[in-house]
Amino acid sequence: MGSPTSLPATALLWLSLWTAWAQALDNGLALTPTMGWLHWERFLCNTNCDSDPHNCISEQLFMQMADLMVSEGWKNVGYQYVCIDDCWLAATRDAQNRLQPDMKRFPSGIKKLADYVHSKGLKLGIYQDVGKKTCAGFPGSFGFYELDAQTFADWGIDLLKFDGCNYGTLNLLAEGYRNMSLALNKTGRSIVYSCEWPFYMKFFKQPNYTEIREYCNHWRNFDDIYDSWNSLKTILDWTAGHQDLIVPAAGPGGWNDPDMLVIGNFGLSWDQQVTQMALWAIMAAPLLMSNDLRTIDPNSKALLQNKEVIAINQDPLGKQGYLERKVEDFELWKRPLSQGALAVAVVNRREIGSSRSFVLLGNDWACKQKCVITRLLPTHKDLGLHNCTSAIKVQVNPTGTVLLKLTASEDTAHHKLFSESDTWHSMDTL
Ligand code: GLA
Repeated sequence: MGSPTSLPATALLWLSLWTAWAQALDNGLALTPTMGWLHWERFLCNTNCDSDPHNCISEQLFMQMADLMVSEGWKNVGYQYVCIDDCWLAATRDAQNRLQPDMKRFPSGIKKLADYVHSKGLKLGIYQDVGKKTCAGFPGSFGFYELDAQTFADWGIDLLKFDGCNYGTLNLLAEGYRNMSLALNKTGRSIVYSCEWPFYMKFFKQPNYTEIREYCNHWRNFDDIYDSWNSLKTILDWTAGHQDLIVPAAGPGGWNDPDMLVIGNFGLSWDQQVTQMALWAIMAAPLLMSNDLRTIDPNSKALLQNKEVIAINQDPLGKQGYLERKVEDFELWKRPLSQGALAVAVVNRREIGSSRSFVLLGNDWACKQKCVITRLLPTHKDLGLHNCTSAIKVQVNPTGTVLLKLTASEDTAHHKLFSESDTWHSMDTL
């Protein structure tokens, strides 16, 4: 047993440790899921600016994306972070061990690029790795967490995607993620911290999401997304299969990250793009597009800029949605929203045939009073006021999704109240 005077000292030690954790957890950022653009899925590690100047990883690419984020309305609907992924670095650190960009591709330096992005009212994200090398083989942050965090802060960086390749041991992985979080915090600059900690650790040990949430603003759990329906499916299936573990971990300040939006690229049909947008809203996922804003087609752009769907994603309650049930190759996903509202997504997982109908009953949304129902995707349609006995039939294309929003309402004066028979009569038109 310690002397009477040692007790307050112990308490102080715990208090200071707790304060450090609390600061790392509570950096005031990502109170709703981060929105922006990230180069990886579309532009990968294209360093060949001689033969492919238009698409290589260079300051010009990020400046162009920043310009378009403003001129094409992305910033207006909430996309804010322009993010650099792997392959921006020079092959070595400088004489003072500081990170430096490849000077041929980033001749103005990262600070100038950050200034440019900030001058547009946007924020700049960058990429590093917990280990000795990044996934693409550039110098990693191992042994330099404080120096690198300070370098990023000095440059004016606003988000760090911290990868986990070449991490060494599980202990080093965890220490690295914790130490970089504390180092970023110590700089005093507001830097969103995007982790891949649980993804690398889950092969050996079940991640402790309470701890991960204390250190990260969002965290990747699963494989890299590819530009394909198959990839999208595996992400949805993994998420649903682990929802008891991961859904409770999400909330303001910390989010599960199912990886980039690939809407507007080559691999997803229209219906599959709708499914990605709807489910990323249900999952309260960071909305980080990886596409070419210079050439994106108008339909994909409109889908990504759909304000009603973005509002579901950004709902201030911050509860992640979940798969409620599967029936006949349909999936019914739900996300509780603020003010008692609810988002409901019906996914048709059948990959053959034509559109199929799914009937939602009043008890699917447990409408205590009356519900105003709006279909948000694939197109907007007001479906009016419904009660618990209503049944709604939705038509869903193969691999597509219908996204609905239900808002509690006691106001019958301004809405037509559908009786059960009205609804059934009108079902085919919904
Ligand atoms: C890992 C990450 C990807 C991307 C690449 C870059 O695979 O999961 O998102 O950052 O590294 O090399």
